[in-house]
Amino acid sequence: MSVETALSTPNRRTRTRKLRTSKLHTDKFQVTKMHNADLYQQSNNLQKRDALLCLEKHASKIKWKNSNNKIIDIGCGDGSVTNMLKKYLPDNYKLLGCDISESMVNFANNNHCNEQTSFTVLDIGGELPLRMENNFDHVFSFYALHWISDQKRVYRNIYNLLEEDGECFLIYLACSPVFDVYRILARKNKWATKLQDVEKYVSPYHDSTEPDKEIIKIMEEVGFDDIDVECKEMVFEYNDVDMLRKAVTAINPFNIPKEQYGDFLEDYMTVTSEMYRVDKANNNFNITFNYKLLIVYGHKPSNKSY
Ligand SMILES: C[S@@+](CC[C@H](N)C(=O)[O-])C[C@H]1O[C@@H](n2cnc3c(N)ncnc32)[C@H](O)[C@@H]1O
Repeated sequence: MSVETALSTPNRRTRTRKLRTSKLHTDKFQVTKMHNADLYQQSNNLQKRDALLCLEKHASKIKWKNSNNKIIDIGCGDGSVTNMLKKYLPDNYKLLGCDISESMVNFANNNHCNEQTSFTVLDIGGELPLRMENNFDHVFSFYALHWISDQKRVYRNIYNLLEEDGECFLIYLACSPVFDVYRILARKNKWATKLQDVEKYVSPYHDSTEPDKEIIKIMEEVGFDDIDVECKEMVFEYNDVDMLRKAVTAINPFNIPKEQYGDFLEDYMTVTSEMYRVDKANNNFNITFNYKLLIVYGHKPSNKSY
């Protein structure tokens, strides 16, 4: 089934599943807007830089088909990185960006949709719509998969999205100071209730000593071959306090009532400043983020025998 057909002919079963996904999303993020696509596109410099670095290094190894490459970008967010991906694609492709957030998908469709590219809602940690299975030659994902604790399910879903001989190229966070800030805030009486499910939003590899080995094991169990997983130490400098505020607000996973959000953001910035010993009153705000990025490649074997 083609990508176009997959998008345009939902059957009863897939329609029901789509509704369920939206409900889940609404339930989880109902109080504050977790996903502010406009703010995100103004503040995702780190994500864009890393996507470019990884694509520049690895894109030449991707084995494109001669024609009709069907590509999916999981956790596309506002669509700006999906848009950057196009530079590395051959001419003949159909590209589908997907995200659990309806508001992100709407923004991406409004800003980056054309005859070759479109965006749809999908929860990669949930049940896949049947029409999407075995339907893509290439699965990409940038800065999204650390949000899903059931990593086996994620890899099984990616495997099932792929056609035989398809490939995936994924980058996401192993560990990051952001997750330490979440945990510190969750221990404060003031935020303990609001952040009681904090571990859901901490990368499953944040405390791992060998995340690459854990992922290789999962991918092998799922059936991938030619697996290559790198866990790379990265550095990013935030020297604009407003940029950091925007980045935190654009993707806030917690249900903080709107009227308390200003207070929450101030506490977030205070914890961050204390962690980095930044004088909040000092105009020379400068924070060096050290984090670890997972760069993952896998291939779905072909069952053809020659
Ligand atoms: C940090 S943004 C990354 C966006 C974009 N890929 C980029 O690199 O700028 C992470 C995105 O993953 C999405 N996401 C989180 N959980 C997801 C899930 N279970 N299925 C699909 N997308 C998910 C979020 O809604 C968010 O838009």
